[in-house]
Amino acid sequence: MVGRKGRRVLFMALPLEGHLNPMLQLAQILHSNGFSITIIHTTFNSPNPSKYPNFTFSCIQDALSPTQFSDLLSFLVELNVKCVEPFKECVGKLLRSDEAAEEPVACLISDAMCHFTQGVADNLKLPRIVLRTSGVSSFVAFAAYPLFRERGYISTQQQVDCNLEEEVEELAPLRVKDLPLIKTEEPEKYYELLGKFLKETKGSLGVIWNSFEGLESGALRKVSKEFSIPMFPIGPLHKYFPSSASCSSLISQDQSCIAWLDTKPPNSVVYVSFGSLAAITETEFLEIAWGLANSKHPFLWVVREGLMKESEWVEALPSGFVESLEGRGLIVKWAPQQEVLAHSAVGAFWTHSGWNSTLESICEGVPMICMPFFTDQKVNARYVSHVWRVGLQLEDRGEIERIIGRLMDGNDEAKEIRDRALKLKEEAKVCLQQGGSSCSSLEALLTYILSFDSFTFQPS
Ligand code: UDX
Repeated sequence: MVGRKGRRVLFMALPLEGHLNPMLQLAQILHSNGFSITIIHTTFNSPNPSKYPNFTFSCIQDALSPTQFSDLLSFLVELNVKCVEPFKECVGKLLRSDEAAEEPVACLISDAMCHFTQGVADNLKLPRIVLRTSGVSSFVAFAAYPLFRERGYISTQQQVDCNLEEEVEELAPLRVKDLPLIKTEEPEKYYELLGKFLKETKGSLGVIWNSFEGLESGALRKVSKEFSIPMFPIGPLHKYFPSSASCSSLISQDQSCIAWLDTKPPNSVVYVSFGSLAAITETEFLEIAWGLANSKHPFLWVVREGLMKESEWVEALPSGFVESLEGRGLIVKWAPQQEVLAHSAVGAFWTHSGWNSTLESICEGVPMICMPFFTDQKVNARYVSHVWRVGLQLEDRGEIERIIGRLMDGNDEAKEIRDRALKLKEEAKVCLQQGGSSCSSLEALLTYILSFDSFTFQPS
């Protein structure tokens, strides 16, 4: 542990699994580098403070409720409105507190999607750095949203249209169908949210990325050119600590699947999970179930409560389905994903291509089957299959058995994908070592945060 710096960093997280985890990992990294940490969080999806005895937690009364969560777009819009006042009050109090007198607040680090925090920080003359928890390549695509609007791609996304397959020249190899859009009746609301998210990111003092140079150097160059603020690609954040210490999942993880994996041969199991937000219909659920059963490969499948709108959990499976697998398939509600991906029995990851899942898979050298649902997932899937070439994209659910076979049956294509995945795993490891790109970037970030001294709030 490095000596204490006598400076405190405030964090404001977006209360969603894929955002909260990397933010808490970053807070741990800064704490182990001598900074004191205060996590400001909402009552909705609040983190468990007992897991972080060294941090101070401050809860804001956000008036968000789980029922509002059914629509991601509306949730994000509401959050950026409802949190302004309680956040302003909370930060004001923290800046005037005895704690802040002892250890001056150096800056605020907040999620890029919490764009409202920029206005509050400006008002209080508090330096703000953005944490972008998703990849840089998808950010470049988000930044091109005026283009989608101009060309009417959002409506194309909703009405199945032959242009969906067309490559978007400015964002190659993305096709129209890979653009980071969301199905919505209110495209203007989505564009407005993107506009604010980009403007307030530009207005910040820098961006911390959960990514690394070797993976996204081209996108980092583009974004640095367009946003004239410092960029700190310091990821993969979850690899700074052992997986048990870096995971702060909001859902309790079923550890029993590790013992089950222990009974399986190396590279034999398909791990299946669609993250914390994606939802599927019962028909899709059954197609996936039969695809897995018919593939004849062992599988570990995370069926989150709420994955299907129509049922609570796996009631839709025909009776006798699980028994007929004779131990070849295990279904759990939530898995210790980082440990699962690091397990030698896992040979492929069928994923929704959320950024954390993508990065966690890359870090363990596990080839992916990508089935994106919305926003950045579509970009990530295209990069996995066509840029890094460490996986295949499932474009048609009728192809499930075939695509599992392509990745698991040991043919030349699968071998090449696995070799590239292992090479990328090595790059992800080297970047965190002394002299590696993420390690150097973290050093630059620490120096940068300490340079904010002169900006520190002085209570009047
Ligand atoms: C959301 C968006 O869907 C995604 O597009 C964006 O990149 C981040 O925010 P989410 O759907 O939760 O994320 O997916 P992902 O980013 O992959 O994060 C899921 C996290 O949950 C991962 O860290 C993963 O390790 C963890 N997880 C998942 C578990 O711990 N157990 C599980 O069973 C499944």
